[in-house]
Amino acid sequence: MTHPDGGQRERDPRDRVIVVRNVAKTYGENEAAVHALRGVSLEIFAREYVAIMGPSGSGKSTLLHILGCMDAPSRGELRICDERIDFDDDDRLASVRRRRFGFVFQAFNLLPSLTAEQNVALPLMLDGCTRADACVKARATLEKLGMGHRLQASPRAMSGGEQQRVAVARALVTDPEIILADEPTGNLDTKNSEQILAILRQLVDELKHTVVVVTHDFSIAAAADRVVLIRDGRVAHEAAGSELTLDSLRFHLAESCPTATT
Ligand SMILES: Nc1ncnc2c1ncn2[C@@H]1O[C@H](COP(=O)(O)OP(=O)(O)O)[C@@H](O)[C@H]1O
Ligand SMILES: [Mg+2]
Repeated sequence: MTHPDGGQRERDPRDRVIVVRNVAKTYGENEAAVHALRGVSLEIFAREYVAIMGPSGSGKSTLLHILGCMDAPSRGELRICDERIDFDDDDRLASVRRRRFGFVFQAFNLLPSLTAEQNVALPLMLDGCTRADACVKARATLEKLGMGHRLQASPRAMSGGEQQRVAVARALVTDPEIILADEPTGNLDTKNSEQILAILRQLVDELKHTVVVVTHDFSIAAAADRVVLIRDGRVAHEAAGSELTLDSLRFHLAESCPTATT
């Protein structure tokens, strides 16, 4: 399978961190059945920044949840770092999820009763790290994301952009290979969106993570190495981010992508 990556480099199959084959997902049964994914195949490579775009309801979040081993497909196969994922093996699933993935959500999902530092330290403490070690790592990660001056702040006292940077730090602190983000700038204004955009790019270019981001934000997608357009539960088109234009988006989605025009 060839990938449009701007023609810059040949991909080595050994660098695949996520492989999805013919994945389908149906919610409900019979007349109530919703076919959220109808056979998606996708390969994502180490240190790649992939944006997933598509109309509301096209299956983007469902796909991201399956990629992150948070939800089982109805059929098809998922491989993470060459391991075939068995969705019936809960212990293994939890371990793959914890070790390989960091998640960032549109709604930040920070715990309001904890400080920024404590929110970021939490995943490490759940992994058995001591409080002192977890706090040292949490501080270092927050500093890396320009949040060193807000360590003791409560999420309630932070702007949306600050909260999202803390949420990115929380996803990063366990040093996972892959960061998955579902509309991370959906609740942010342009300036804060640009900061998150720069951070996502930095995660790939400097920190060598792999990033998969679901977004309606044209500038986020245009900065990605590859853009995957999803429509009606299928991959409608793939393009290099640098080749993405609003016209090609409209053409391949055959309906307007609301915030892409802003
Ligand atoms: N838990 C669920 N139960 C039933 N239907 C669902 C569930 N989650 C998503 N869907 C449906 O699956 C389709 C795809 O949803 P989703 O993946 O959230 O789309 P997107 O993220 O692209 O907006 C939609 O029709 C949605 O209503
Ligand atoms: Mg969604």
